[in-house]
Amino acid sequence: MRHLPRLGVNVDHVATLRNARGSSYPDPLRAALVAVAAGADGVTAHLREDRRHIRDEDMARLKRELSVPLNFEMAATNEMVAIAIDTRPHACCLVPERRSERTTEGGLNVHDGHDHLKLVAAELRRAGVRVSLFIEPGRTAVEAADSIGAPVVELHTGSWCDARAHGETERARHEFERLRDAARLAEELGLECHAGHGLDFETAETISALPQIMELNIGHFLVSEAIFVGLPAAIAKMRAAMQAGRARA
Ligand code: PXP
Repeated sequence: MRHLPRLGVNVDHVATLRNARGSSYPDPLRAALVAVAAGADGVTAHLREDRRHIRDEDMARLKRELSVPLNFEMAATNEMVAIAIDTRPHACCLVPERRSERTTEGGLNVHDGHDHLKLVAAELRRAGVRVSLFIEPGRTAVEAADSIGAPVVELHTGSWCDARAHGETERARHEFERLRDAARLAEELGLECHAGHGLDFETAETISALPQIMELNIGHFLVSEAIFVGLPAAIAKMRAAMQAGRARA
């Protein structure tokens, strides 16, 4: 059996709750520290252009206080590149961003944005930051990501998770096959493969059976589940699900 995928816990929605009342709690750093104590391998946070959840000072505090890798999600804008270079997280995951979206609704347009992304990836790499590209699970996107020169791709699992919410349908099977094929291609090209978006216990278990997946980044479901059982218990159950899935790989 290959190593278990790493679990990156995304703390964005702890900040969403804090910001809803303009209070100082719940603190995303406290959640990150609890997550690490409960077995998270890394922490992810997305500094959006509109600062709707994570804020600049959250990112700085996460970087300062965490003993595990910080994965800084961001759009490939000049502003974010400057903040990332200043912060020097372990990794930056480049994502598309639109103000009107509720969440990151799709993967990067690695085809049209190719030259710009290549420049941004090179700049971050020079600063010692590991770059990952959040992409749709398709051949063209994986190949474009490879030619951009990022060592990591994160496959967007949102379409599959949406389809799975309606059961094991034809569409869900098709979406899963896209993920499986993209993960295989990424490995063939020498890219490290991560996955995330919309994962819950069941989907995290299923996708952990793909041996190429090295890391899952999970936020909304874990933070939601924490309301009922607490964050440590939610993380422990998630890790057990990932372990059960990987045992089938
Ligand atoms: N990975 C990336 C690149 C994302 O943009 C997000 C959402 O911020 C996630 C993973 C986590 O998604 P979710 O919050 O649905 O678990």
